Amino acid sequence: MSNKIKKIAVLTSGGDAPGMNAAIRAVVRTCAFHNIDSVGIYRGYEGLIEGDFEEMTARSVKSIVNKGGTILRSSRSKEFRTKEGRAKAFKNLTTAEIDALVVIGGDGSFTGALALNKEYNFPVIGIPGTIDNDIYGTTYTLGYDTALNTAIEVIDKIRDTASSHSRLFFVEVMGRDAGHIALNVGIGAGAEEILIPEEDLGLDRLLESLKRSKQSGKTSSIVVVSEGDKIGKNVFELKDYVEENMPEYDVRVSVLGHLQRGGAPSCFDRVLASQLGVKAVESLLEGKTNVMVGLVKDEIALTPLNKAIKLKSEVDMNLVRVSDIVTY
Ligand code: F6P
Repeated sequence: MSNKIKKIAVLTSGGDAPGMNAAIRAVVRTCAFHNIDSVGIYRGYEGLIEGDFEEMTARSVKSIVNKGGTILRSSRSKEFRTKEGRAKAFKNLTTAEIDALVVIGGDGSFTGALALNKEYNFPVIGIPGTIDNDIYGTTYTLGYDTALNTAIEVIDKIRDTASSHSRLFFVEVMGRDAGHIALNVGIGAGAEEILIPEEDLGLDRLLESLKRSKQSGKTSSIVVVSEGDKIGKNVFELKDYVEENMPEYDVRVSVLGHLQRGGAPSCFDRVLASQLGVKAVESLLEGKTNVMVGLVKDEIALTPLNKAIKLKSEVDMNLVRVSDIVTY
């Protein structure tokens, strides 16, 4: 391993995700294992610009592997999108004698990391952390598995009340641009219909599907809607639309929102975070930069950051067919 890198900093950026703490822990402890200093940067790129740093030791990250959120906190920094902001950040990195940066976040965070590298040739590496699972170059992002389990637990509860009252529920789940969460929890929770940005179901087909559900003898229905869905109506408008067109339905809406981002990470997310954290540090020590660590075909692999940002992580459209069949 190269001895050029003596101090590595880590930050979390964008929407927090369960498993980020486990990844921070892995980064800090891998540094300690290789006798490298480590620094935690608070509040993502905001803290980088303001010099909100703390030297870390293996003990600084004790008892966090099981905690949701991020001990380093997070932000969506507007200033880091400017050259001036990045100049301040670089100055702080240089003053603190930091040689490389691990960014745990999503594609916006990786775009910032690449800009820093381009302008200052500063070594950066990404760890995909977002509940949306919308990053190319990894089958799973940190937090996605936990978010699925959280969402499904809640939808199961909604099903209890929906069937007690013979109601239809529109349940909105997170996923700004991708339907991974909606499609998977929809199948897992036995949703009668699933609306995702990748497939335009259309209002007519939605009504047809609801009619078929009623005719087949179902008393309650759940439609899982991804927040990024393109049907042209939000969940509240969908409720009005269905009530107007199918007065036989008593409709309610539930927006799961940020509760999907909280909570203790699943075992899967903790293990993945640990693997990615170790690989991120060891890749930097091997001289790699501008890459993201991810899980590809069950192996930890590196993907160029620009690919991770530009390419899309496709949802498995076979699951749409599976959903249609199993809810028949
Ligand atoms: O990117 C993760 C995510 O939770 C999206 O699913 C959601 O659209 C967005 O973040 C919400 O962001 P914020 O917490 O800034 O409102």
